[in-house]
Amino acid sequence: MIKKDLVSKGKAKSLYSTDDDGLLLMEYRDDTSAFDGKKKEALKGKGEINNKFNGFIMKHLQQNGVETHFVEEISPNESLVTRLDMLPVECVVRNIATGSLCRRLGVEEGIKFKDPLFEFFLKDDDLGDPLINDNHIIAFGWGTQEEIDFMKKQTFLINKVLCTLFDEANLILVDYKVEYGRTSEGLLLGDEFTPDGCRIWDKDTGESLDKDRFRKDLGDVVESYQIVAHKLGMEI
Ligand code: CDP
Repeated sequence: MIKKDLVSKGKAKSLYSTDDDGLLLMEYRDDTSAFDGKKKEALKGKGEINNKFNGFIMKHLQQNGVETHFVEEISPNESLVTRLDMLPVECVVRNIATGSLCRRLGVEEGIKFKDPLFEFFLKDDDLGDPLINDNHIIAFGWGTQEEIDFMKKQTFLINKVLCTLFDEANLILVDYKVEYGRTSEGLLLGDEFTPDGCRIWDKDTGESLDKDRFRKDLGDVVESYQIVAHKLGMEI
């Protein structure tokens, strides 16, 4: 596999073309950002732990009926993925109320939902990723009804699979964000699943073991990702 040109550089990952037109190389960098890119720092070792973390989760999802763009890890901080045409929307599922939901609705932190809550956001840093609904997606042509239905069904399936995985490791999957992209055969889970894009609490202590440590300046960010990886049984 030959790494070719830089296709896009995001806040924490870079995408490169390869000698195979259908495959991209995803490089996980140490760069960490929050608040739509307003807070930034490079955290040594984060690229490597996130690459491994993502590979482990994507493989687990694939074994449990969720097709993803992940192909394989090819170096400590690089993976091969299927080329996708990404939809400009973020799918968030929440099991416990926190973060932007509480700020937006003025509701109490920590409410546990009987059924998980699903929200769409528009992927646009300049606008602060605003909350949108199904009708916005259809009206502006960001996706079809069929794609909306698929994203909801698949994101809830991911929740079921991962809540079980985290629960068995004495962890709580509080909320997370996933993104989907098109292939000629339909939608696939794209982007990443790492502690950069989800909230994970220790079941006994309630301690945050995810990017909230960076957002709130709690320290030990990479160390906390490693603790989660270890609890989930990853070899790191
Ligand atoms: O993180 P914040 O409070 O701003 O937003 P949220 O809507 O409460 O985030 C819900 C979940 O989605 C959290 O696990 C975030 O880490 C994740 N998320 C993300 O990964 N990327 C975004 N652009 C927005 C949310």
